[in-house]
Amino acid sequence: MDAATMTTPAVLILLGPPGAGKGTQARMLEDKFGLVQLSTGDLLRAAVAAGTDAGKAAKAVMEAGELVSDQIVIDILRDRMAEPDCAKGVILDGFPRTTVQAEALDGLLAEKDQKISAAISLEVEDAEMVIRISGRYTCAGCGEGYHDTFKKPSVDGTCDNCGGTEFKRRADDNAETVASRLSAYHAQTAPLITYYDGQSVLKRTNAMGKIEDIARDLEDIVASAVN
Ligand code: AP5
Repeated sequence: MDAATMTTPAVLILLGPPGAGKGTQARMLEDKFGLVQLSTGDLLRAAVAAGTDAGKAAKAVMEAGELVSDQIVIDILRDRMAEPDCAKGVILDGFPRTTVQAEALDGLLAEKDQKISAAISLEVEDAEMVIRISGRYTCAGCGEGYHDTFKKPSVDGTCDNCGGTEFKRRADDNAETVASRLSAYHAQTAPLITYYDGQSVLKRTNAMGKIEDIARDLEDIVASAVN
């Protein structure tokens, strides 16, 4: 089933630590199901690049690998979800990350008479995350993600998606910041696994395997959640 045949817009949450593959998998699900990927990390990086007040407040916090304030993130997410394309259904990548954010999302969805289709926990060992993050880079043109070892472009130096030849690495993908991000995940975000289990929408998936195998597992989960 794709977005055109869904009765109510799907709301999928990808939960998982830094480097779990949330962005990689969200992009694939977006294509497969016609949903819109909403990454609060991408929205915040855009706000930083644009020099907005929210971006100025977020910049140093992100560089330190800590969580940006709930109010800034909730406001950014609420504004983005009000845009017309989100009526197709959304994949939330990196939001919510705290219980306050999860409760705000519940309130936002209740206002629209929507509910969470599934909260999918991508389960990965900490050591693997460091390997994934340290090899990550993206196309500067379209944002397609790659990895030095695990996901190289088919033609060296050329983006498979848009043909671009410029690539970039994230400022917070360094060993020191990754340790802070992991610690923020365990302290503030991992409790959401219990939160969504309590709402009976939690699905768990082993995200230690190959990108394509995990994608197949996720497609099955999403297909049954949006039916
Ligand atoms: P954000 O941008 O959300 O970063 P993150 O959660 O740390 O997650 P990543 O983007 O690092 O990883 P990912 O799971 O998407 O992995 P990816 O698919 O790229 O947040 C950045 C910062 O913004 C936060 O630290 C915080 O300050 C702030 N922020 C954002 N949202 C917030 C919120 N809600 N509240 C407060 N603050 C917020 O994969 C990683 C690499 O591994 C890639 O190279 C990929 O090719 C490769 N890979 C993927 N899957 C596999 C696999 N199965 N096998 C091998 N390699 C793989």
